[in-house]
This record gives sequence, C-alpha cells and structure tokens, in this order.
Amino acid sequence: KSILVLNGPNLNLLGTRQPEVYGATTLAMIEASCTAHAAEAGLSVSCLQSNHEGVLIDAIHAAKGKHDGLILNAGALTHTSIALMDAITSVELPLVEVHLSNIHAREPFRHKSYIAPVALGQICGFGAQGYLLAIDALKAHLSGTEP
Ligand code: DQA
Repeated sequence: KSILVLNGPNLNLLGTRQPEVYGATTLAMIEASCTAHAAEAGLSVSCLQSNHEGVLIDAIHAAKGKHDGLILNAGALTHTSIALMDAITSVELPLVEVHLSNIHAREPFRHKSYIAPVALGQICGFGAQGYLLAIDALKAHLSGTEP
C-alpha cells in the first residue's frame, strides 16, 4: 500500500518557524521519519509540500489510482479551503488530518477545519510525532482492523 503525505503553506519553514509552537523538527526530518516508519509497517510513502492551494488540489486528484491513502497538514488552508475539502470528497481516498499544534487550544479562527468532516480523523497537538500516528491510523484503516 502507498501513502501520500501532503503539507501545505509555510510548512517548508518548519524548524525555524515559531519553534515554540511547531517544534524544531524540519520538514525534511518529518518526511524522512515518515518514510522510515511506513517502511517498517510495510507501506511506501511519497511526500509533497506546496505553498499553493491549486498544486495541493492537483496532487489530491493525481493520487486517485496511485495511492491508497492520504495524510494532510493543510496549514492555514485548513481553516479556509472549501476547494481542498471538495477535492478530498471527489477522490474518495481515506485521509488523516494532521496538525503539529493543538489547533483547538489556539485562536478561535483555527478551531474550524474544512478538512475534518471529510477525514477519517484528526491528529493535532503532538508535534512531528502526529505524522507517525497518522501512518499507524491509516495502516489500521487500510487493513480493515480499525474504522
Ligand atoms: C498548522 C496549524 C494551522 O493553524 C497553521 O496555519 C499552520 C500549521 C499546524 O500544523 O499546527 O500553518 O496546520
């Protein structure tokens, strides 16, 4: 099985961007640990980061037939993008939503997620580890052992 890990706007700056909120781990480190963790679980991983909503939408469309599941940290697009939500609905691929920070403990405008209603579930507040938890959750879903 194959998983696509998608990261949205400003996540290329992880490591130096507000480390007190998002941690000191860089995106390259997160992507490397996802690849290693998935390999241990017998899964393959592709990773993509973009600051552009349309590039993320194109990647979700292209994932259909190519990947079995998605992990998405849409950054601030989480709170605004009906287009990303519609793309996820359209491809009918299982998706786990990830955020490094606990968006529900932050500003009210971060409490709303357009991704959550079309995701299997949401993992937030556990930093870079959240991506690995998402891989475990997706693996269990894909093998039919968990919802
Ligand atoms: C984020 C939370 C969003 O509110 C924010 O805009 C981000 C990162 C997170 O991973 O905690 O860019 O998705």
